[in-house]
Amino acid sequence: MDARIRNDFPILDRTVHGKPLVYLDSAATSMKPRAVIEAEADFYRESYANVRRGVYALAAEANERYEEARAKVASFIGAQPGEVVFTRGTTEALNLAAWGLGETVVEPGDEILVTEMEHHANLLPWQETARRRGARLAAAVVTPSGELDLDDLRAKLSRRTKVVALVHVSNVLGTVNPVAEIAAEAHRVGAIVVLDAAQSVPHMPVDVRELGADLVAFSGHKMLGPTGIGALWGRADLLAELPPLLTGGEMVREVWLNWATWDEPPARFEGGTPPIAQAIGLGAAVDYLTRIGMEAVRRHGEELTALALGELLARPHVTVYGPHDPGVRGALVAFSLAGIHPHDVATLLDQEGIAIRGGHHCAQPLHRRFGIPATCRASFYVYNTPEEVKRFLSALDRVWEALR
Ligand SMILES: Cc1ncc(COP(=O)(O)O)c(C=O)c1O
Repeated sequence: MDARIRNDFPILDRTVHGKPLVYLDSAATSMKPRAVIEAEADFYRESYANVRRGVYALAAEANERYEEARAKVASFIGAQPGEVVFTRGTTEALNLAAWGLGETVVEPGDEILVTEMEHHANLLPWQETARRRGARLAAAVVTPSGELDLDDLRAKLSRRTKVVALVHVSNVLGTVNPVAEIAAEAHRVGAIVVLDAAQSVPHMPVDVRELGADLVAFSGHKMLGPTGIGALWGRADLLAELPPLLTGGEMVREVWLNWATWDEPPARFEGGTPPIAQAIGLGAAVDYLTRIGMEAVRRHGEELTALALGELLARPHVTVYGPHDPGVRGALVAFSLAGIHPHDVATLLDQEGIAIRGGHHCAQPLHRRFGIPATCRASFYVYNTPEEVKRFLSALDRVWEALR
């Protein structure tokens, strides 16, 4: 990775507690390059107006830029623009999917299959749908090495399974799930496959057609884009059948006092004024990542993960969660130091300017499965360097010496 990339991220110049910032929490949210910050500011400065309603030139320009952003996001994941719904992020996208499938597909007595490694964002919406529809929620288990138990998943698939909802890359274990294989099995029993791609789309080439899922959710803020914007990709024929989650302005055809008809996707799912500037910012983030190349992004993540993983595994007091082969992981490592609470580790590292996450990372059932309340997590992105990983590792050794 070109070292000059760092210079594109103004925040990385700052210090924390008098030390240069080492930001290792990109799995929570990523930093923003100047190109993204400027794209958003430029829209407010030059072309700002609401979309989909005005007939004046500025409104047309705003609309054009908003739709241009949608086309960029679509092309980034190998999709058509009409199949990309802008949402506030992965959470809203998954809620939209769970609500819509609850209304159209899931019947009392049916099953929804998730996995033990889901982020709460891909668990709670399905709990709600199951409760609302009188369906059963089942979960495929995770092996001790942090992989999905595919035999268990297969055994839990049946003709009653209407939805299989799973994560592409676990935000704790880093595990990359074999989505195409799982989707093929799920389709064999007639289930719809919903994919939480919050940790994959930012870090690796993703082609939604190759994945074989039916609905795919991700967030802009984890891929160099602004907060408040994300997307739900859906197969066109499936989106056409789904009802909206939000009703209101600009998502309708005809409205009477007692009834209304919905617009076509994606407008149907974007009721109210959407996050326009944020969508344009996400378009700029997609341009930025495309310039680097997603293969290079993935390689860089793998190199930094291999470095961290190798060093952490060599320390007997460190437990690493998830697969040990960096080639089959996302760009993050969750770990713990024997007898030390992850919050203490994260707090002491912060004193050295190093930002990692300590907690359950919105995956309480997964932590419970491993019999622990929390883990430390270091996660990497395009702007991180091997030197930063080494700084993190030597600071971690000092934490161990201080608290052991
Ligand atoms: C795997 C996974 N799914 C879903 C989410 C939720 O994303 P957001 O908070 O952007 O909606 C996250 C964010 O941490 C995640 O890592």
